[in-house]
Amino acid sequence: MTRQIQSPTIDVDELRAMLAERQPVTVLDVRKAEDRAEWAIPGSLHFDAYEALKAGNPDALADAAIPKEAPVVTICGAGKVSITAMEQLRHRGYDARSLAGGMKAWSLAWNSAEVPVLGSAATVIQIRRTGKGCLSYLIGNDDEAVVIDAALPREVYQDLAAQHGWTITRVLDTHVHADHLSRSRLLAEQTGATLHLPEQDRVTYPFTPVHDGDTLGAGSSRIVALRTPGHTWESTCYFLDEKALFTGDTLFLAGVGRPDLEASAEQAQARARLLHASLVRLTALSPETIILPGHTSEPAPFDAQPITATLADVISRVGMLGLSEEAFLDAILARIPPTPPNHARIVALNEAGEMPDGDPTDLEAGANRCAVS
Ligand SMILES: [Fe+2]
Repeated sequence: MTRQIQSPTIDVDELRAMLAERQPVTVLDVRKAEDRAEWAIPGSLHFDAYEALKAGNPDALADAAIPKEAPVVTICGAGKVSITAMEQLRHRGYDARSLAGGMKAWSLAWNSAEVPVLGSAATVIQIRRTGKGCLSYLIGNDDEAVVIDAALPREVYQDLAAQHGWTITRVLDTHVHADHLSRSRLLAEQTGATLHLPEQDRVTYPFTPVHDGDTLGAGSSRIVALRTPGHTWESTCYFLDEKALFTGDTLFLAGVGRPDLEASAEQAQARARLLHASLVRLTALSPETIILPGHTSEPAPFDAQPITATLADVISRVGMLGLSEEAFLDAILARIPPTPPNHARIVALNEAGEMPDGDPTDLEAGANRCAVS
């Protein structure tokens, strides 16, 4: 039996809960194809009716093949044109609602997946900000938990930790982020956890510095810091029980971190050299190492399947990892993608440990662009 929808709009939390619980729902994206190409809701149907809806064409959705059995949620960029779509569908007898705030509000949607880590007593939960592609992690062991790269409101981490009976004792960032606002400082303040950041002089608020080789406990588990400069000077990976490697934006499942943000051409070249050395260090780890990156380039599905691969698989996918330093420099510098929107402002806020006045998704709009593949 499907649920009857009453209110004309649905908010992000309710839709993400419906998808996470696998409730029947058809998500209908009415944006232009080029807007959908940037980012989309996993499993959504696409019918490009944007111009027709905006023009007030009453038959804008007449040719869309939409199942009638499940409720429909209409989506656009900001939640306005999708209201017209919702009204047209209701007129045709559909149980339809419009996503309030559209894809901009969806930026904060998330889902999670447990990551099996053989040989570690810790439970690792990958928390995917599916609306943007940021991956953060909750590592629980005994009654303690550690959060890496918090990118969502603190309640998300606190609630998940509470559900498992864990208290968050440490909050870690892999680097100063440029594509999203770090929520680590707020999370640490609210939970009383220790805030650990890679040793650097960029951030202007108090933190406990992490150096290469430092070991942080999480219950009976050990997290060792591996300093891996390149994407940024301070970039650091965290190695859980020598089994799972949290790579931040240094190494992705199909690419490597970009070395050019907040850098001159000369600095980008120097950072690319450092990145090569860092990647040589990482690829020497056990081939069975589970790689857990800081981003994904596709919206994370609501499938509870972790986004991960073994180091051996990553090495076989990422051709750049096998290159000499000079060839690596040539390859990476030739493939730098467009810079993420608002990155200078986001970096400034992350260095100050502040959130913007108003809606943070205004600044964070757009897909993450920290990878070169
Ligand atoms: Fe980054």
